[in-house]
Amino acid sequence: DKGNHRHFMAKEIYEQPEVIPHTFGHYLDLENERVALPELPFDLAGVSHISITACGTALYAGAIAEYWFERFGRVPVNIDIASEFRYRETPLQPDGVTIVISQSGETADTLASLRYAKEQGQKVIAVVNVPTSTIAREADAVLPTLAGVEIGVASTKAFTCQLATLACLAVAVGRAKGHLQDEDERKLVRAMMEVPRLMTEALTLSPEIELLSRTLAKAQDVLYLGRGTNYPLAMEGALKLKEISYIHAEGYAAGELKHGPIALIDEKMPVVVIAPYDRVFEKTVSNMEEVAARGGRIILVTDPKGAELANVPAMQKLILPEMPATVAPLVYSIPVQLIAYHTAVLMGTDVDQPRNLAKSVTVE
Ligand code: F6R
Repeated sequence: DKGNHRHFMAKEIYEQPEVIPHTFGHYLDLENERVALPELPFDLAGVSHISITACGTALYAGAIAEYWFERFGRVPVNIDIASEFRYRETPLQPDGVTIVISQSGETADTLASLRYAKEQGQKVIAVVNVPTSTIAREADAVLPTLAGVEIGVASTKAFTCQLATLACLAVAVGRAKGHLQDEDERKLVRAMMEVPRLMTEALTLSPEIELLSRTLAKAQDVLYLGRGTNYPLAMEGALKLKEISYIHAEGYAAGELKHGPIALIDEKMPVVVIAPYDRVFEKTVSNMEEVAARGGRIILVTDPKGAELANVPAMQKLILPEMPATVAPLVYSIPVQLIAYHTAVLMGTDVDQPRNLAKSVTVE
């Protein structure tokens, strides 16, 4: 049932302010403002190394979480696409934990990676949306994402629920390893509790994004740029646009622009820049100036401070409320999803069942 929505994808985008608190509710002790994971069959304090593997959107959730595990847990992270991870014969550290992330819990390469990690003596944590899935059954521990059934082939709410789950896990690792003080943890938990409200505000950008998607629908290629956790989010934005609108898109680390992709920029090339005001914002502004100088059209997704400080020609801005950096990837996912959605609707594609794609990829 799509409710009032034209597509399951829209319904699932709009469900996020409801499913996210449900997921956080499972991993947080709200009264004491602490993270409270279900009991794991091993001690997080002893984790020396984390490997993350998954496919597609689930991989990008992992790539965002990599920043959190390093920041809060001070644990080295190795992350790779499951179809590479399983054949790389990567040496895995003793006392290492492998995290596999999958909405369906049935993705063939992710499952094979899980089995490889177990053979190598790793403890495996599965972050899955389908609790009865094969990946959930075979893992040492399961952290369910609790997004509810996701029908649209393009993953939306499962992605942000993966982020919510991984953020809690990263905080738990940080606390277990003694790198996070109680007050820092409380601050992070309070920020997590703000996410549903921030997402609801982000959803009000929908009409503006619908207008702006007319530019994107005319483009042949779209570039997405970001730094830090907004870099994997840029890749996720590009993936979402490609898969449902069939417009070619690429996500790049903003700092890589001058190492190649800048050659693509001309007046026909929209560039979506995901850049809240943070410690690397000024760097991203110089990248935007480079794009503008070559006639590229910028769509800047930012906050009030960022909007005030960035002024380059031919720029459109999508302005989100100010928020703590850790939760920004969850909230910035909303405009990223809506950009792909509205563009695809304009293009007249089959948004929920895009050509050549399956919801669950159980063959290599
Ligand atoms: C993109 C998308 C795919 C999946 C990927 C992994 O919107 O849905 O990239 O994320 O096929 O699937 P799961 O998470 O089921 O392992």
